[in-house]
Amino acid sequence: MNDRIIIFDTTLRDGEQVPGCQLNTIEKIEVAQALEELGVDVIEAGFPVSSPGDFNSVVEISKAISDPVICALTRAVKKDIEVAAEALQYAKKKRIHTGIGTSPFHIKYKLKTTPEETIKRAVDAVKYAKKFVEDVEFYAEDAGRSENEYLARVIEAVIKAGATVVNIPDTTGYCLPEEYGEKIRFLKENVPNIEKVIISTHCHNDLGMATANTMMGVINGARQVEVTINGIGERAGNTSLEEVAMIIKSHHNLNLETNIDSKLIFSTSRLVSTLMSMPVQANKAIVGRNAFAHSSGIHQDGVIKNRENYEIIDPVEVGVKESSIILTARSGRAALNHRLELLGLKFGKEELDDIYHRFLVLADKKKEINDEDIRILSGEVFKGEKALKLERLQVTCGKSMIPVATVCIRINGEIHTSTASGNGPIDAAFTAVRQLISKTVHLEEFLIQAITKGSNDIGKVHIQVEHQGKTFYGFSANTDIITASVEAFIDAIDKIK
Ligand code: KIV
Ligand code: ZN
Repeated sequence: MNDRIIIFDTTLRDGEQVPGCQLNTIEKIEVAQALEELGVDVIEAGFPVSSPGDFNSVVEISKAISDPVICALTRAVKKDIEVAAEALQYAKKKRIHTGIGTSPFHIKYKLKTTPEETIKRAVDAVKYAKKFVEDVEFYAEDAGRSENEYLARVIEAVIKAGATVVNIPDTTGYCLPEEYGEKIRFLKENVPNIEKVIISTHCHNDLGMATANTMMGVINGARQVEVTINGIGERAGNTSLEEVAMIIKSHHNLNLETNIDSKLIFSTSRLVSTLMSMPVQANKAIVGRNAFAHSSGIHQDGVIKNRENYEIIDPVEVGVKESSIILTARSGRAALNHRLELLGLKFGKEELDDIYHRFLVLADKKKEINDEDIRILSGEVFKGEKALKLERLQVTCGKSMIPVATVCIRINGEIHTSTASGNGPIDAAFTAVRQLISKTVHLEEFLIQAITKGSNDIGKVHIQVEHQGKTFYGFSANTDIITASVEAFIDAIDKIK
């Protein structure tokens, strides 16, 4: 039988403290509803005394949410606790989260008090909160840097005062995983009545150890984890919900489980990222754009043979449709062929070699090759031999310069060269082309499009020319849009028979 880990989400409280990430009440309700669907057990909805907006959000979230416990943060201050209780009045299940700093730094420099007085304030706060709600969580701020013996005394006192959950925050993200795990074990082994309460982890990521610390806390006896979506939070952020949920899901030998519906992880991540205008870093575990993307030839080949060669989580499990094979200059034939097949395109060995060769030329110029590029590359295989072919093109242009172009065109096997000027580089090149062909053509339509968004993208050029009352179409695609334009122009002329 697995032990259940309680997921306490603080995206709307600790997460929302990130500068520039503030949400309005309607947005917070949307996030809270997504968290409820995701299966979190506790939603920390805000710090009601901090502002009327936060107060109102806790009220509205309390009304909108049914299943999870709604939690409100306070300091160990009577007024904070009264305001939190009022904000929670509509919550079906409610919790007050109160606490005080317990490290020598906090006691001496922040609270300017003594260790004994700190214990008294902690106990008073818990007792006062108990007058309003049954479920009271106590946090020992900066527990990560607090002395274990003293911390144990504080925790013993607040349990006696009625705390139901004791939160051991590594507020500054300083602890090493072993140290944090040891702290939790020390409390488990030394605090009387500790088995009557739930121990909670609350880790920050200042040294990139938030998830490791949280897991060490759990392994040593904590049964609640305080986390945020995408790991957002003060400074370097909090422990990320998706990482902990997927570690627990992947490591069966831990004999742990959560109530998280992992298939909703990706959509919840993107909802939070969009509403908070906080992009998810590309290589973020579980939810980053590259978390299931493979770009090196060896890995791509391995994933195509069997996904588990290089993936420990099936992307479908976290709501990502499929792993993506990113085609770059480091991709091999297998990856290219795989993508062609996904696009419904089948080629023999020789054709594939030809496409692969042109794929590498393009990939050297462009960071990533997308499906549109592949379609273009594969379409060119069937164009066959042409009477006209652009062999070389050189243009000189720039501010305060007369644009000049030299084109070398193979016409029925023979190379012809011409130079011309124009009102721009494309005009100059088209004039040079016209000087080499015996036909009169009028340009009727000229369209340049970028396929996606980047400045390293392929430009697609569609051209329409008129010759003796008939219309002919030309097309080309190239990272160099002047080359693409001249090729498209020549392609249209080539069709005039
Ligand atoms: O990091 C911290 O110590 C906190 C507490 C207020 C719980 O966020
Ligand atoms: Zn925190």
